Order: sequence, then C-alpha cells, then structure tokens
Amino acid sequence: MSFINDRFIKACFQEPVDTTPVWIMRQAGRYLPEYLQTRAQAGSFLKLCKTPELACEVTLQPLRRYNLDASIIFSDILTIPDAMNLGLYFGEGEGPMFSNPARTEHDIRALHVPDLDHLNYVYDAIKMVNHELDQRIPLIGFCGSPWTLSCYVIEGRGKNGFPLIHKMREENPLLLHELLDVMAKSVTAHLNAQIEAGAAAVMIFDTWGGQLRTQDYEEFSLFYVKQIISGLSRNYNQKRIPVILFTKGGKHWIETMAQSGCDVIGVDWEIALSEARVRAAGKTALQGNMNPEILLQDPAVIRSEVGEILASYGQGSGHIFNLGHGITKDVPPEHVAVLVDTVHELSQAYHR
Ligand code: CP3
Repeated sequence: MSFINDRFIKACFQEPVDTTPVWIMRQAGRYLPEYLQTRAQAGSFLKLCKTPELACEVTLQPLRRYNLDASIIFSDILTIPDAMNLGLYFGEGEGPMFSNPARTEHDIRALHVPDLDHLNYVYDAIKMVNHELDQRIPLIGFCGSPWTLSCYVIEGRGKNGFPLIHKMREENPLLLHELLDVMAKSVTAHLNAQIEAGAAAVMIFDTWGGQLRTQDYEEFSLFYVKQIISGLSRNYNQKRIPVILFTKGGKHWIETMAQSGCDVIGVDWEIALSEARVRAAGKTALQGNMNPEILLQDPAVIRSEVGEILASYGQGSGHIFNLGHGITKDVPPEHVAVLVDTVHELSQAYHR
C-alpha cells in the first residue's frame, strides 16, 4: 500500500523527496470556523472525539483548505485515562479535569490496561478517514507519553509545574513507576490498535518531559517511551510504520532521543534545526520547529521565518516542516495557507 503523496513517509525515513513535507500540530482546531461549528453540533469536545463521523469530519477540514502532506486523527491523548474510568471532563475555559485523580497506592493499584473496546471510536474514526482519503496522504495516529499522561492523572487537571507528580517522584518513586508502567502498556496497545486500524505513522507527545532534570527524564520518561517503541508492530501490511517522538523542551536530549528507536524527533523552537541535525547525527529525521506565534504576524514575516527554518535544516531529506507546538486558536486561517505554500515553494531548492 502506498500513497499518492508519500513525501511525509519518505522524509521520516530520510529518503529523497521533491519538496519538504509539512503538516501542523492541532491542524484541526479552534482557529477554523468550520471546526467550531462541528464542535457546537457535537455539544462538547469529548463528544466530538467520541463520535467517529464527526471526528472524521474535523480531521478532514484542514485538508480541504491546505495542501498538507499528512493528516492526524482527531482525538486526544487523554482518551487513555478516560478509558481507565478516571472521569475526564473539560471544564469551560479550564482545560482537562479528572473527577477521580490517581494519587494514592490504592488508586494506582486499581488501574489496569483498559479494554480497547472502550476506544473503538478512535479506530472507527481512523477507518473512516482513510476511506475518505483514498490513499492521497498518510494518516498519523498518536498517544501521550506515560510521563505526560501521569502528570494529568495525578494532578487531576492541567496545572503549572504539575507539583503533585514531582512530590510523588521524590517521596514514592516506586509507586510512580507502577503508574508509568500501566500507562506504557496501555499506550502500546492503543498505538498498535491504531496501526491495525490504518494509521501509517505514529507520534508520541511528551509535552511535559522537558520539565524533568536530565537523569529524571531518562528514568521517568524516556525509559517508558523506549518500552512503547519496542512494543510496536512496526511492520504492518508490508509497510514500515515510522515513529515520531516529540518532547517539548527536549533540546538537551537530542542524542539520547535519537537512540530511543524513533525515526523522527519533534523539536520546538528552543533549538536551531542546524544544531539538532548535527546532534541527531543522521540517526533520525527532524520535525519542526516554527514558533506558533509567528503565525500571528504578517505573511511577509511568516515567509521569511519559513525560509530561515528551511535554511537552518539545509540540503537534503529528513525534515518534516511543522510548528514547535500546537497552533493557537487566534491564528487567521489564511496565514496557514501562506505557511504551507511557502514551505513547498522554497524547499525545492534544498532537494535538487
Ligand atoms: O493535532 C491534531 O490536530 C490532533 C488532535 C489533538 C488534540 N489534542 C485535539 C485537541 C492532539 C494531537 C492532542 C494532543 C494533546 N492533548 C496533548 C499533547 C500535545 C500538546 O499540545 O502538548 C495534550 C497535552 C493534550 C491534553 C489536552 N487536550 C489539553 C491540555 C487540552 C486543553 C488545552 C487547550 O488548548 O484548550 C485539550 C483539548 C483539545 N485537544 C483541543 C483540541 C483541538 C481543544 C478543545 C476544544 O475544542 O475546545
């Protein structure tokens, strides 16, 4: 099985491409009026995630507007703890909350790898999107890292610095390891099920790994990410499934991430691609790394920033253009077209 446009998969494996592929983290989201309309129709964000027809519709929305080289299934990393019955809800303007956070030995020992039937809505949405895409571009599946998921599950909500997980890490690291282990097993099963449903690549979002000190990053985050990667069905239907690892704030750890077994490292704007490329030493491709704030500026600024990022990576394949974190809700949709078209136009010079 191959894609009419397979630049994204080729770049993941550092194979030659005609232009640099581009997609955008949170490309289906609140900056698009049609997304807001479908979310209103669904009634809530979680309802939108759990209704495959509507999740399929919002996944496709950005592809109708922009010449993107990859799609990503519309879902959330917190569907895993939700399937563990921790009572996920989204308070208006407050982000994710759990009514039953897992904080004590008793809470954590009660957690098990969820029955994947509770996540069938994700796999059904993947099948529907692929049917609509008809092999035009690949669809990315995803999950959160065990560390990032545990930040939310212990704190019970998004909170600056996630103090409760750091307290547990200091006072009861063995208990935290038990939680991380259940999360790693759950996420591995969920990614394999996404691959089986038709995800052509998978991405692990380690949004809060960058808050750890180096030694703790390796012990509490990267260790479990490696466990996930080695548990994946990497050859599905004769295709090799690339794995993207994104650690926000991971600039110090490019070398160790490059040895995790991933094919692509997602980087934010705190490190230049030129430096990340030297430090990845050809072991992995790179994805990133424009600051989302640039999308609020004039088109001329966006074009010039795209040019600088392409120049920083330099000649040859192995770069997937993206932002260094998710697109924000105040971005004018026409600015995204400027970004995507400029990447395709200016990058040709780097692939001759
Ligand atoms: O990239 C895509 O288009 C796929 C969809 C996607 C969503 N969440 C949809 C979403 C992906 C890949 C995620 C991952 C995710 N979810 C992460 C890791 C990536 C990152 O941004 O760091 C995290 C930490 C979460 C947890 C989560 N979900 C938070 C903290 C929030 C609220 C934050 C906010 O921006 O309001 C969500 C909600 C969420 N997930 C939205 C979307 C489009 C906004 C919900 C809405 O419509 O109101």
